[in-house]
Amino acid sequence: MYTIEYKGNFGVMIELKKLLAEKIACVVKECFGVSMQTSDIFSSFEYPPDDSMGDLAYPCFKLSPVLRKGPNVIAQTISEKFVYPELAKAEALGGYLNFFISDDYYSDNIVPGILKKGKDYGKLDLGKGGTVVLDYSSPNICKPFHVGHLGSTVIGHSIKKLHEFVGYKCVGVNHLGDWGTQFGKQILAYKMWGDKKTVEEGGVDELVKLYVRFHQEAEDNPELNDQARLEFHKLETGDKENTELWKWFVELTLAECNRSYSRLGIEFDSYAGESFYTDKMPAQVEKLKKSGLLKIDNGASIVDLSEYNMPPCLILKSDGSTLYPTRDIAAAVYRYNTYKFDKCIYVTSSQQKLHFQQLFKVIELMGYDFADKLVHVSYGTISVDGEKLSTRAGNAVLIRDLIDSAVTKVKEIMKEKSPDLENPDEVAEQIGVGAVVFYYLMNDRIKDTNFVMSEALSFDGNSGPYAQYTYARTCQLLNKAKVSATDKLVIKEKSERDLAKVLSKFSEAVLSAVKDYEPSDVTRYILDVCTAFNRFYHDCPILNAEDENVAATRVALTKATNTVLGNALPLICMKTPTKI
Ligand code: ARG
Repeated sequence: MYTIEYKGNFGVMIELKKLLAEKIACVVKECFGVSMQTSDIFSSFEYPPDDSMGDLAYPCFKLSPVLRKGPNVIAQTISEKFVYPELAKAEALGGYLNFFISDDYYSDNIVPGILKKGKDYGKLDLGKGGTVVLDYSSPNICKPFHVGHLGSTVIGHSIKKLHEFVGYKCVGVNHLGDWGTQFGKQILAYKMWGDKKTVEEGGVDELVKLYVRFHQEAEDNPELNDQARLEFHKLETGDKENTELWKWFVELTLAECNRSYSRLGIEFDSYAGESFYTDKMPAQVEKLKKSGLLKIDNGASIVDLSEYNMPPCLILKSDGSTLYPTRDIAAAVYRYNTYKFDKCIYVTSSQQKLHFQQLFKVIELMGYDFADKLVHVSYGTISVDGEKLSTRAGNAVLIRDLIDSAVTKVKEIMKEKSPDLENPDEVAEQIGVGAVVFYYLMNDRIKDTNFVMSEALSFDGNSGPYAQYTYARTCQLLNKAKVSATDKLVIKEKSERDLAKVLSKFSEAVLSAVKDYEPSDVTRYILDVCTAFNRFYHDCPILNAEDENVAATRVALTKATNTVLGNALPLICMKTPTKI
C-alpha cells in the first residue's frame, strides 16, 4: 500500500535515491543499450551494513536477468562509468554498487534541503487527503485508568500523529466502554452502599470500591446478580434515575481520564462509546438474520465461524441483550457511513486479537466491502518493575500514579542539575511525562514491556530525558550562536557527515512507522539523531569554531538537528522544552 511514488515531494535521502536511480539508468543504457525503469532501481536501494561499505547500495543481481550478465560484471561496468562526483562515488563490491555520498552533496543539498523545508521536513504525501479513523485509548467506565491502557493511548495517538504527518485526515475516536450488564451491578452497588458525597469526592476510585464490594457480596448472595440484571434492564429501557446515575458515572470516569489526556497532550474528535450504538444495533442484527448468518445456540444468537477456524462470534445473549461484538459491528458500519474512511485502525492489547479477527470476518460475511479497510494494531503486556499487573489481583498501577512518580523524581534530579530554571515545575512535568511515553514507545509494540523507572529517567541513557535534553541543547546553541546558519555548508569532518546522513533519513523512519503501525521506528530514529548530534557536539566546536565558515556550517547542522527533533518528538507524544 505504501510504496513511495516516484513523483512527489519527499525527504532528502529519497530525493538522492531518485537522482542516483536516474544516473544508474543512464549508465545502463549507455553500457548495455537497455532502458530501465528508474522507479524499479529506486525501490531496490539498500543501506549497507556498515559505513565502510558506503551510504547506499544497489544490488546488481536485480539487473542480471534483464542484462543477462553476472552481478559482479554489471557492478564493475557501472562503477567505472559512474562519474558524478558532485553526487557520489560508486564502488563495486560483491555484486553490489556501493555509493559514497559526496561531502558536497551533503553540504549543498541535504542540509539546506532540511532547513528549507523546516516544519514540513519529513512529511510525505501518502494520504492524499484520505481519511483514517483511529479507535484508541477507549477505557472502560467505572474502571481504573491503569497502565494497561497506556499502550492503546500513546501508541494510538502516535499512529494518529504519524498519519496526519503523511497527509491523512484523521478522526480520533474514544470508544468508551460505557455499556453492558456490569452497569446494572454498578448501579445496584451504588444504590445499596453508595453515598453521593463520598463518590463525588473520591471519583472513579470510589466507584471501583463499590464494584469490588458487589462481587464480594454476590458470592454469598447470588440473587444480587438477578437484581443487577433488572437494574441494567431499567437502564436500557430509559429509566430516569438509572440513566442519571449512569451519566454521572461516565462523567466521573472521564474526568479522571481527561486529566491524564491533557498531561499527555491528547484530544479526541469523538467520544462515541459503546452506548452510542444502542439504537444502531437492531438494524445490524436484522441484517445478520436476513442473510442467514445468525444461528441459535443454547438460546444465544451466534455467527458460526468454524469454517474459518475460529470460535463463534456472540451477537445476542439468551435474554436478548447485546454484547461487545454486536456493538463493534454497529460502530464499524456507523463509522464507515459517517467518515467514509480509507482505514479504520483499532489499537488494543493483543488479548483482543481474536475478537477483532472474528469481528472483521463477520463484517466481511455481512457483505460490507469496507471490511478490508479495518486494521487491528495490537501490543504486548506491561509490567512495572517486573510485577505483572491486574485489576483483579489489586495491584494495577494507575496511569496518573506512574506519571506522578516520574514527575516527582524528575523534580528531585532537576533541583540538582538545573537549580536556576525559571519554570522548573512545567519542565519537570514535560520531562516526566516524556520519560514515561518515550520508554513505552521505544520497543516494538508487540513485545511485552517491563517499566523500569530508573531507566526511563536516565538523563544519559536511551531515554526521553536524553532526547529532550539534546533538543534543548540545540535550542540553547542556536540562541547563543553569533553567526547564522548557512545554506552553503562546508562539511569536512566525519561526525558532521554522519550527522547529516542520519538527518537525511527522517522520512524513511516516518514511512516505516506508518507502514508497520510502529511508533518505535520513530523513537529509535530519534535516538540515532541524538547520538549523532552529541558525537558531533563532542568532536566539533560549534560556538568556538576555527573560522566563520566552519561556524556557519555547524550552526546549520545544529539547526537541522533542531528541525528534525522538533518535528519528530511530537510524533511520539513528546513535548519539546527549549531549556532544561
Ligand atoms: N474498552 C475496551 C477495553 O478496555 C477497548 C475498546 C477497543 N475498541 C473497540 N472498538 N472494541 O478493553
